[in-house]
Amino acid sequence: SCDAYIFGRLNEFVNAYYEATGDDGTIINSGHRTYEEQEALLTSRIESVGEEEAYKYVAIPGYSEHHTGYALDIVSYENSEAAGWYVDNCWLYGFIHRYPEDKQDITGIHYEYWHFRYVGEPHAEIIMLNDIVLEEYIEMLYLYSYDSPLIFEAHDGVTYQIYYAACDGEPTDGGKTDIYVPIGVEHDISGNNVDGFVITTVMDSANTAQ
Ligand code: DAL
Ligand code: ZN
Repeated sequence: SCDAYIFGRLNEFVNAYYEATGDDGTIINSGHRTYEEQEALLTSRIESVGEEEAYKYVAIPGYSEHHTGYALDIVSYENSEAAGWYVDNCWLYGFIHRYPEDKQDITGIHYEYWHFRYVGEPHAEIIMLNDIVLEEYIEMLYLYSYDSPLIFEAHDGVTYQIYYAACDGEPTDGGKTDIYVPIGVEHDISGNNVDGFVITTVMDSANTAQ
């Protein structure tokens, strides 16, 4: 299972793969996992390959993206080349290839061709264009604020404004944070998983077919 909204995007993604390749062998090996499921996975992996190898691929229980419902392990049992298509095209559906081979020192996780994470549009496209991983993108967004946002025109002609807002106080103290958003435009606020929020607004969708 996974988050209800991304289920629709996942279906589009997997259908597009089928249309492009004719391969109907895709399976979602893993979606949402509870803390207990992650713990069981880690324990059994340690038993089979030892601690050092297990920790390269399996996140510590409580720290896996699979807890969020935004992470999916996608493979095809018919076609070992499937990963390449999924990696190249994931951004079009709002997904990122989360643990690339050349970013292991940054993600702290060994190369996993199968693990995709939904971050939505336009974030997946920006991450793809810059050849960065989520950790680097979160760092990059610290440079942008309400007064000085990142302005990005996506492939479909929609222009977005993206910026960071720090959380007031400690994330755990239950306090409140005031966030500036432009009036009268579509916007979305999400946690950055570290110390604040990412605000995404649609500035101009005039070029988009309605
Ligand atoms: N395999 C990834 C890192 C996880 O366990 O969340
Ligand atoms: Zn995974």
